[in-house]
Amino acid sequence: MVQEAKSRSLRSRPPQANDEFLSFTASVQFDHRLWRHDIAGSIAHAHALARAGVIDEAELESIQSGLREIAAELKEGRAALDPSLEDVHMNIEKLLTDRIGDAGAKLHTGRSRNDQVALDMRLMTRESLLDVSSKILQLQEVLLTKAKDTSDSIMPGYTHMQPAQPVLLAHHLLAHYWRLERDLGRLLDCYKRTNLSPLGAGAVAGTAFAIDREAVADMLSMDGVTQNSMDSVSDRDFVAEAAFALSLMMVHLSSLSEELVMWSSREFGFVRFLAGLTGGSSMMPQKQNPDIAELARGKSGRAIGDLVAVLTLLKSLPLAYNRDLQEDKESLFDVFDTSEASLRALTRFLAGAEFDKVRMRKAAEAGLMTATDLADLLAIRGVPFRKAHGLVREATLRSKGDHGEFLKRADELLVKELPDLDANASETLTAERSIARRGSTGGTSKGAVAHQLSVAEEMLGKNRGSVEKLMQDVSAVDRLLWA
Ligand code: ARG
Repeated sequence: MVQEAKSRSLRSRPPQANDEFLSFTASVQFDHRLWRHDIAGSIAHAHALARAGVIDEAELESIQSGLREIAAELKEGRAALDPSLEDVHMNIEKLLTDRIGDAGAKLHTGRSRNDQVALDMRLMTRESLLDVSSKILQLQEVLLTKAKDTSDSIMPGYTHMQPAQPVLLAHHLLAHYWRLERDLGRLLDCYKRTNLSPLGAGAVAGTAFAIDREAVADMLSMDGVTQNSMDSVSDRDFVAEAAFALSLMMVHLSSLSEELVMWSSREFGFVRFLAGLTGGSSMMPQKQNPDIAELARGKSGRAIGDLVAVLTLLKSLPLAYNRDLQEDKESLFDVFDTSEASLRALTRFLAGAEFDKVRMRKAAEAGLMTATDLADLLAIRGVPFRKAHGLVREATLRSKGDHGEFLKRADELLVKELPDLDANASETLTAERSIARRGSTGGTSKGAVAHQLSVAEEMLGKNRGSVEKLMQDVSAVDRLLWA
């Protein structure tokens, strides 16, 4: 009985926000990052309200200048955001209403936080996509510079992490360039789907006010508007796409980092880093650890975690807006922060790296890496390649990894199989000759690499132009704020 009375009294108590509810549901502690985008979106929305006749010119002016003052205060850290107001959107609206009264209370006409937060996230994402893109361009530039600086340096190419065939160091560095080229392409592709305005979708069904959605999009330099109000408030594909593109980019950084870590080991000795950019040991005074590369490698795991969190969040959500979607923010912010920081650190780290050309050239001598050239030589002169492969394999096995021994057996083979050929192994089977033979497009010969480098340079220039052009659109937010 007592139990029942108590539950009835609980039931009849008017619902009110309590601390526990708020501490679990509030998002302002992380979504405060959206304040610039939120204010710019509100200014554009206010213009649409004025055009729809919901507010008059004086009210528009008061909303706009009020929002700009709030922006200035937020920038200088003078305005405090209140967690009891839940999120950044409610906070800014409250700051505005406290300041200008009724006009401020009209701002949310024809708008829901559901389309508002979707807009803010898109504005923030397009900006961050370009920030990361310009960091990628910087790393690509370092890779190109290093490739040019080391243009005749030879190193072992590996497959299965076993010595395979000699390659130019420039060729190896450029391989990383192309991975980043695709990453950049993915980010800019994601930008296209991100840069659409969902404002006017309202909570779920659209808006009953004559809001010119295209004009709002225009004001924010967005490429158009979304086509379905239900999709507009629930679509976080751009979040997942960005998280994936960044995760894959981080996987590429991790792979590059792993090589730098390996190459700097005593056993390889291919590369040295600037002392100021290496880590020491609290115990071992001699240590110079490649901490930056190790952390970039480690942070890729964190990016992948963010991606998995976003995808898991989205799966099984019914249409349209669900509060779960608030959870997209920390993952997205984190994957952007992690990517940018890793790119910046690794770019400096690589820029200061010094390759040991002598050691690399020497390593390219070991491992019988010109065995393929010998088989090719036989094949070119008519020995069926399978047979040539078998004969050369036999010779390599017998030489037990010894380079001199291999050359001796190679000479025997040449005399036996190609008695008319005037060539000796020690001249024909050098790393330099091996590299020179591989002039196919994308191959490692000096000529092919020089061509590759010029294509890469041209692309870098073009991409820089595209990113700069898109930056113009992104800066619409700041133009609205600081006009
Ligand atoms: N803070 C929310 C988010 O980030 C904003 C939208 C809330 N909408 C609502 N009806 N409670 O997703």
